Amino acid sequence: MSTVLGDRSNSEKKSKKVTTSVLQQMKVNNEKIAVLTAYDYSFARLIDQTKMDVILVGDSASNVMAGHSTTIPITLDQMIYHAQCVVRAIEHALVIVDMPFGTYQGNSSIALASAIRMMKEGGAHGIKIEGGEEVINTIKIITQAGIPIMGHLGLTPQSIYQFGSFSVRAKEQDEAKKLIEDAILLEKAGCFAIVLEKIPAMLAKQVTDSLRIPTIGIGAGKYCNGQVLVMHDLLGMNASFKPKFLRQYAHLDEVITSAVSRYIDDVKKNNFPNDLESY
Ligand code: KIV
Repeated sequence: MSTVLGDRSNSEKKSKKVTTSVLQQMKVNNEKIAVLTAYDYSFARLIDQTKMDVILVGDSASNVMAGHSTTIPITLDQMIYHAQCVVRAIEHALVIVDMPFGTYQGNSSIALASAIRMMKEGGAHGIKIEGGEEVINTIKIITQAGIPIMGHLGLTPQSIYQFGSFSVRAKEQDEAKKLIEDAILLEKAGCFAIVLEKIPAMLAKQVTDSLRIPTIGIGAGKYCNGQVLVMHDLLGMNASFKPKFLRQYAHLDEVITSAVSRYIDDVKKNNFPNDLESY
């Protein structure tokens, strides 16, 4: 099932793209939505071939691409660069790009200008913004400009220094109540989906059941309408990062270090290149 975007390309393949209305319909049909992050052309091309529904150019690029311990340092220009690399590879998935810290909080005009840059220069199909009530005006202004927004509630990593830790959010009744209220506000303000990060599964179910728009969980249990993971985590690029919610589908850390070690060995022993690999 997919809605055909009215693009002018002749290619049948290119026109069958996932849209926000496809995701809405998937919720109605009880069909789960698969979301994965990507940050560069080569991985995005492979992921798109799998018929992933949504590719998220997450500001987790700050962690897994740049090596920072938080998502705070990554800039708008850097996120635009990652978006451009990913979008160039995509024929099928909806590409949503995170607005980085400092580009949308507090001032709706600056937020709109940042979002427009992400769409025009980055080529994003939509953006993701962290927060609830405090960003509602901004979300209204950006959606009124025709830009699709995915919300993000629960553990919002850009606020890590306010939370003080990466532990599960909204375990207490007050925070859970605010999260449900925020989710409803985000839907009313025009978000097309909401990421729920690291909250109790039964709270995620309650939010999911209260909304018409889909919820996408990460560490939020099985009742969300879809799931998202960071690509490097799913592929097991860092064996020491293994939070409870993560399932590693490969151990690329071993595959990569073993391949590179064999290469070093061959170079040292003058086994590479051989005659067939020479001109
Ligand atoms: O930046 C990111 O990768 C994210 C996901 C973990 C939801 O926001």
